[in-house]
Amino acid sequence: MSALFTPFRQRQVQFRNRIVVSPMCMYSCVEGMANDWTLVHLGSRAVGGAGLVIAEATGVLPEGRIGVGDLGLWADAHLEPLRRVADFIRAQGAKAGIQLAHAGRKASTLADGARSLTATEGGWEIVAPSALPFSPAHDTPRALLREELPRIAAAFAAATARADRAGFDLVELHAAHGYLMHQFLSPMTNQRTDEYGGSQANRFRFVLECVAAMRAALSPDKPLWVRLSATDYLEGGWTVDDSVALAHELKALGVDLVDCSSGAILPKVRIPVAPGFQVPFAERIRRETGIATAAVGLISEPAQAEAIVATGQADMVLVAREFLRDPYWALHAATALGVKVDYWPQQYWAVAPR
Ligand SMILES: Cc1cc2nc3c(=O)[nH]c(=O)nc-3n(C[C@H](O)[C@H](O)[C@H](O)COP(=O)(O)O)c2cc1C
Repeated sequence: MSALFTPFRQRQVQFRNRIVVSPMCMYSCVEGMANDWTLVHLGSRAVGGAGLVIAEATGVLPEGRIGVGDLGLWADAHLEPLRRVADFIRAQGAKAGIQLAHAGRKASTLADGARSLTATEGGWEIVAPSALPFSPAHDTPRALLREELPRIAAAFAAATARADRAGFDLVELHAAHGYLMHQFLSPMTNQRTDEYGGSQANRFRFVLECVAAMRAALSPDKPLWVRLSATDYLEGGWTVDDSVALAHELKALGVDLVDCSSGAILPKVRIPVAPGFQVPFAERIRRETGIATAAVGLISEPAQAEAIVATGQADMVLVAREFLRDPYWALHAATALGVKVDYWPQQYWAVAPR
């Protein structure tokens, strides 16, 4: 029996296995519209046996995009092309998820994030909790007025409702990697003096308001996930203890899983990168809060993924770069682990293992 290939149920959604295609920006859209690349990229990984395929960081507002090529869900016009993607993924027996995002002070950049776009390159004014630039190569954001926050929370809710209508089974809030939500959480980027800054409870406030709005906008049958950077790896920054405290509150609001990434609040921070280096965060948050967790980060070997689920370190395993190298990673993992799965696509039965 394989733990990795044991189905998992959350609310009314049953995943055929614990393998998830991690959200990956493709920067291939125009005006946020999903296109043939979106369909083939995500669709081929559903064909390849993943239990869940999560579409990349998707802008809930145009000014919240990382760059001009981001996927978007800020208007009803985005819905139909995304429905085609969700329908295809689901027709392969996988579940379809989408990550909703606002980049805050990391918006309006080149695709590699190295610097801000200039006005002639199509750049725009950026906003953040406090007027602190990400790096000397990035524009200084305008500090958000308290009165502007409800509009952003409403945009997360509206995009969630659109994702639901487009047929996605699951929505993930991107609260990691130094983007807007993380900027509110971390003392490195939040120097507000109103009720959205200062104490831990104040720094949690905007994220919890967005989560509550998203939960209310999403069908009660569908899971809501939150991706966190579990730590900033910085003295005086966001810590794993903070993540545990936040996970308790997320669970109380009806969040179904915390997806445990780390880092990226400031440039050039030393991160102890190694195979499975973020797994202990998923393990600790799961143990101390009882919420389901996902592990991600340098998980590329089937036996490694199997052990993470089998030993209860996480409920789901997200794979990013290895799925770019091999869209059929999940089917190949089944073969490697000696698991017989019945979802080799019928069109490929001639080469399915017997
Ligand atoms: C091309 C690329 C794009 C990415 N885009 C996103 C994204 O949109 N949202 C996100 O949360 N993480 C993003 N990530 C991070 C991955 O989801 C994942 O957390 C990270 O790559 C570590 O997993 P891996 O070692 O399996 O690649 C991206 C990674 C890559 C390689």
